[in-house]
Amino acid sequence: MRKPIIAGNWKMNKDVNEAVQLVNEIKRGVSDIDNVDIIVCPPYVDLSDAGEMLASGNIGVGGQNCFWEKEGAYTGEISVGMLKSVGCGYVIIGHSERRKYFGETNETVNKRIKAAIEGGLVPIICVGETLEEREAGKTMDVVKDHVEGALSGFDEGFIKDIVIAYEPVWAIGTGKTATPDQAQEVHAMIRKLLEDLYSGEWAAGTRILYGGSVKPSNIEELMKQEDIDGGLIGGASLKSEGFVDIIKTTSGLYA
Ligand code: 13P
Repeated sequence: MRKPIIAGNWKMNKDVNEAVQLVNEIKRGVSDIDNVDIIVCPPYVDLSDAGEMLASGNIGVGGQNCFWEKEGAYTGEISVGMLKSVGCGYVIIGHSERRKYFGETNETVNKRIKAAIEGGLVPIICVGETLEEREAGKTMDVVKDHVEGALSGFDEGFIKDIVIAYEPVWAIGTGKTATPDQAQEVHAMIRKLLEDLYSGEWAAGTRILYGGSVKPSNIEELMKQEDIDGGLIGGASLKSEGFVDIIKTTSGLYA
């Protein structure tokens, strides 16, 4: 059975003081849970504190992006080694907001994933279609293109430990969640694609998360789908009650 993951993507929210408070609250709320991989991905400036507070325990820490070079004159960028040095074990790569606002492409996503894996971080690779693409019947083509582009040139041994997050752009921050059936359909397609590209065994063990307006009220139905192995949570991860609730519901389903 695939161990579920609940990851919070804080995006550009929470200064250091707010982050410390939220991390403390989450820590208290989930201290007894061991059947869910719990991850928080705060903004860069919060990572050092979060990493220290979560150095021991059951919550992992992730960055929201990383650059592919190790160091140098790249103003504004953060390296994989820097993320590791503050306790990160994960990094989100290719989020649709990066694709939309910051020129992220399949090629740059691919380079970041390579750097992340070589540096020892687990990449959480985001894929997903826009509303326009869905309405034009292109969902599967777009998702396939994102997955293939992200993994291009990598063999199975190299990507042993990766996480994929299906995040339909039209469901992000809109309150409009994909229905469990809609999400499951795409997740199953992604797993089939991974099976075609690599081995069935590897595809069956790889975790595929759903993201897009996940909240306490819809996590259960989503998690009951066969190919949904967790959630990448935005808005609902910014308040401890909601995030803890989502984690506990998930934990209960896997008990
Ligand atoms: P929301 O949960 O706010 O829709 O955001 C989802 C997301 O983009 C997580 O990466």
